[in-house]
Amino acid sequence: MGGIRAMDSVAETNARRPEPGWYGADPTRDELKDDPHDAYRQLRERQPVNLTPQGEWRLSRYADVQELLKHSHGGVRDLNGVIPGETAEASAASRFMLRLDPPDHDRIRNLVNKAFTPRALASIRPAVEPMVEAELDRVTRHGEMDIVADLALAVPAAAMCVMLGVPFDDRHRLARLVSLATYRLAIHAFPHLARECEAAITELAVYMHALIEQRRRRPTDDILGLLVNAEESGDRLSTDELLQQSIGLLIAGLETTIGLIANGMRCFSRHPAQWDRLGANPQLAPLAVDECLRFDPSIPVTRRILWRDTEFGGYVIPANATVFAILIAANRDPQVFSAPDHFDIARREARHCSFGGGIHFCLGSHLARMDAEIAFTAMARRFARVEVDEAAIEWAPSLFRVPGKMPAVLRPRT
Ligand code: HEM
Repeated sequence: MGGIRAMDSVAETNARRPEPGWYGADPTRDELKDDPHDAYRQLRERQPVNLTPQGEWRLSRYADVQELLKHSHGGVRDLNGVIPGETAEASAASRFMLRLDPPDHDRIRNLVNKAFTPRALASIRPAVEPMVEAELDRVTRHGEMDIVADLALAVPAAAMCVMLGVPFDDRHRLARLVSLATYRLAIHAFPHLARECEAAITELAVYMHALIEQRRRRPTDDILGLLVNAEESGDRLSTDELLQQSIGLLIAGLETTIGLIANGMRCFSRHPAQWDRLGANPQLAPLAVDECLRFDPSIPVTRRILWRDTEFGGYVIPANATVFAILIAANRDPQVFSAPDHFDIARREARHCSFGGGIHFCLGSHLARMDAEIAFTAMARRFARVEVDEAAIEWAPSLFRVPGKMPAVLRPRT
């Protein structure tokens, strides 16, 4: 009897489907960029294992997000090895690690990882800091600035130049090309930018190709130089793989870091007591960066395709389904974070989900944290208050939560 009942309940679980809907969190709504947290709280509370009207699944509880990213049987391609939304040909040609499953992913990630040595990363800070100071001297003279152009973009763009071993003067051109190239990730949503995006990728490829050839002739110890010469058991990246990784790294690292720094400065503008705390305790900067990442992340979701039927919260999600991990909702799950809607730069709790998880965990997390620390500490040393003009914020037409413009008034320390 017990066996039959158990079989019945397995069959019931397999047959159960949540009622499809957006449950307050429709990502196509523009307002969700500016203020997404209430919508994602509703989703987490009303239907934590969510089936969207488009037939995709979304998980918003911390435990489910961690389970999906770290332990489920799945990857970034479907059971036919195709990236959802792309053709088989485009998928076959796509070699950036975030778009590959093992064993290809692991081989490429291991080789790229060899270039992100502690020494190569440590060389970025002393090169970037003086440049940021000089930029701030110049732009803040009149007591106001655009947080995006003058800080959030300036820092990672300078770090990018150090990584590639190119002069700082190239940063504006590079940043423009990388921003345009980023639309490739979801060009179907921005068809009017398709030509500009492809032209930017071609220009970037020509630029990077020349740098790679130079480093083949004369090895350098910048990150690109280490990448060109990275080797494991006689295995190296081919020229096409090198190009795709180096352009992919720029795309993965620029807009995301702009978002971290700009959204973080907005949090500080809204929570002046926490800004005072950082000013008085600069050693809190690393924790403050992580709190900004938790509280207002620039990448709200990441995606996996399940390779076998898998149960989440009493529902069986079928093999080959696309499942989104809602990082932004998991970061405020009250089961894991106390007073999750409270911005507290000294919080020491579970790790937030903003860098994803499992084998695709962000490879640039140290670099992103370092960039944000440089930005926040330079600003906190100079200014007693940074007041963002909320009404004048413009969101970039980006896939991520990245502001395009964020004017602010500055009150210098006396
Ligand atoms: C605040 C800044 C950043 C955020 C929020 C961020 C976030 C993420 C997320 C969510 C993923 C996907 C993880 C997953 O699906 O499990 C990812 C992957 C990745 N990120 Fe970042 N990232 C940032 C900065 C950077 C930087 C600066 C770099 C490098 C220059 C970088 C390089 C990568 C790479 C290479 C991957 C793919 C790793 C793999 O597939 O194995 N990211 N990042």
